[in-house]
Amino acid sequence: MLYLGAWGKDILLGFAALGPCEKGTELTNIAVLPEYRRKGIGSQLVLGVSEVALSLGYSRIYLHVRVSHEESRTFYGGFDFSPLYVVPGYYLDGEDALFMEALLPLSV
Ligand SMILES: CC(C)(COP(=O)(O)OP(=O)(O)OC[C@H]1O[C@@H](n2cnc3c(N)ncnc32)[C@H](O)[C@@H]1OP(=O)(O)O)[C@@H](O)C(=O)NCCC(=O)NCCS
Repeated sequence: MLYLGAWGKDILLGFAALGPCEKGTELTNIAVLPEYRRKGIGSQLVLGVSEVALSLGYSRIYLHVRVSHEESRTFYGGFDFSPLYVVPGYYLDGEDALFMEALLPLSV
């Protein structure tokens, strides 16, 4: 697993994680502190992990997102992630995930 941090002086403002998945490599997690959102930090993190994936030889990157999470789907849609299929009950609370794919390098 690879973690990328976005730092502001000594504060961790956000992070993204890249890990393996059955199709190759996946953005497994991403979060930005609530008071620092909508400033482009999340986008920089997605682009950062995608560059790492590309440098490791991957031509695609994948992720899971909650089907109910419209905001995240809008966020990922900005990088041309497209839905592949639904994974029923993927999350611990039973919610389904949408499995998404994007070609590398990402287009913004
Ligand atoms: C998803 C998340 C990482 C985005 O981080 P961010 O730093 O706010 O993202 P950016 O500022 O780079 O946003 C880029 C674009 O994505 C879209 N977007 C981001 N957050 C959005 C929201 N809440 N609602 C609608 N669109 C959103 C917008 O188009 C935005 O561009 P704009 O601000 O110019 O309109 C952040 O909202 C977060 O930490 N959420 C909680 C954790 C989470 O849901 N992680 C994803 C799990 S799948």
